[in-house]
Amino acid sequence: MQSGRREPRLSWLVHRVLICDEMKLGPLDFPGVQLDYLANMPRPDLLQALPQYDALITRSRTKVDAELLAAGSRLRVIGRGGVGVDNIDLEAASRRGILVLNAPEANTISAAELAIAHLLSAARGLTRSDAKIRAGTWDRKFLGLELAGKRLGIVGLGRIGSSVAQRARGLGMSVLAYDPYIAQLAFDRVGAERAADLPALLGAVQFLTVHTPLTEETRGMIGSAELALLPRDAVVVNAARGGIIDEPALAAALRAGQLFAAAIDVFVDEPPGADHPLVSVPNLSFTAHLGANTLEAQSRVGEEIVSRVLAALDGDISRGAVNAPALDPHTKQVLGGYLELAEKLGKIAGQLLPAASALEVELCGRFPADPAPLVPQVLVGYLSGVTDEPANPINARALCRERGLKVSVQTCEDVDDYQSELVLTARTEGSVRSVAGTVFGRSPRLTRLRNYRLEVVPEGYILIVSNRDRPGAVAQLSSRLGDWGINIAGMSLGREARGGLALFTLTLDDRPSAAQMEELRRLPVVDSLFLVEV
Ligand code: NAD
Ligand code: MLT
Repeated sequence: MQSGRREPRLSWLVHRVLICDEMKLGPLDFPGVQLDYLANMPRPDLLQALPQYDALITRSRTKVDAELLAAGSRLRVIGRGGVGVDNIDLEAASRRGILVLNAPEANTISAAELAIAHLLSAARGLTRSDAKIRAGTWDRKFLGLELAGKRLGIVGLGRIGSSVAQRARGLGMSVLAYDPYIAQLAFDRVGAERAADLPALLGAVQFLTVHTPLTEETRGMIGSAELALLPRDAVVVNAARGGIIDEPALAAALRAGQLFAAAIDVFVDEPPGADHPLVSVPNLSFTAHLGANTLEAQSRVGEEIVSRVLAALDGDISRGAVNAPALDPHTKQVLGGYLELAEKLGKIAGQLLPAASALEVELCGRFPADPAPLVPQVLVGYLSGVTDEPANPINARALCRERGLKVSVQTCEDVDDYQSELVLTARTEGSVRSVAGTVFGRSPRLTRLRNYRLEVVPEGYILIVSNRDRPGAVAQLSSRLGDWGINIAGMSLGREARGGLALFTLTLDDRPSAAQMEELRRLPVVDSLFLVEV
């Protein structure tokens, strides 16, 4: 056990980070950070220690479930040293507004090399021969299989699947892959043929390896029926996640002599008990979830995840964000005015229609960077006025779902008058409120309220008045406000047509009292009147 605990010498100590799983780490001395490395921490100790920490870093051993998240009352970031985040309850973390990060690239090569090692080992019976010699038997009768000239089936052609494909081709294999979520280019890049579906792949390969994440869709995706589609002398490898290939089905297929051999690095429950149905199957070999266990991968993983978590604690979520749109400092700066605008539009809509059942966000025109981070920011703004629960870009969607608030996002190419416009429409069954804005330089502007074109700096108290377009309306309101000593900081007018419906805004330095609002509302020139605070 190694500890990077530093005495809190300085008052600017800000972040406390706990690493609770085994990891290869460099020096843990970072200014302003207390990094505690307590590898393989027992769960009760972890539950007890967690309330002190801003961030937790794990590998796959620690189950970050609802209980653990509830204990981590200060947690802002969870770092997963590696790829798979199936040990983290992502929904519960998101609901609590906790950012989840991983370091997926760091162990790609090691995981791919282990899959290749298992393919070779299973094909040549390495572990069986080794065990026999240790037991005093010199058996030269075993005949293995060559990989060269055979076709390898890869399910999941992401980072690891692609690396396996490249290595397999180097061994003289051809590759057929199934991955419905990626473009043809990804297949072409590694010289893999694309299988139309899983059965088409299984019926056409002699070797099979899976490299998908464990999801509701991939759990048990290769069961008895799928294994039966493989030829009788097939070799099967699972170095991705336990359960992608159904364990009892694999045991049965091997015992029935349906397959040549198999190898697995991962189990549904780790470690497996001595009575696990797979452990006694003869032509099956194992490693103990060692895909990422190389010196090189572990150094990369440790370094990467610590640096990502520390960056995230400082507001840079450009690398490895799993449950939030990536936002690096440069993009944050470039989008700065728009992020401010997004939150303000949300805040205004929340005051105009606090019980909305639907929010529609339209991202129109050209933004200076990918506008995806603006959507959660709009929701944060909306929620800030309608719920006491602290909202942030990570939990905003979940909070909206819980309120039955449907969120939709659209993009559109064209905008009248501006280069870009962010439009937010809030709806209930009977009402619609729409507000839009853009950014001038770095400064947000409201450009539209309902269908009226305006130009308003969204700051302070904005009085929104609808009326019939006729002389004197603005004068009557401003004279009353003047009598009460309330200063008008800005004004904007919009109308349908001369003499038709109109809407104007007065930006005030101070909030009128409820009685003053009532008096303004009773003025004959006023049809309706709202006050929003931005
Ligand atoms: P990745 O996200 O780059 O690739 C996963 C691929 O699977 C993606 O291309 C995705 O489109 C595809 N996919 C998802 N669902 C699918 C489905 N239903 N059918 C077919 N394809 C599907 O991830 P990666 O870095 O290649 O890692 C893959 C997995 O390997 C991880 O999720 C992790 O569980 C596992 N892993 C294991 C070890 C180990 O120690 N044994 C080490 C690293 C990673
Ligand atoms: C991963 O998903 O990165 C692997 O399971 C590796 C690990 O955590 O050891």
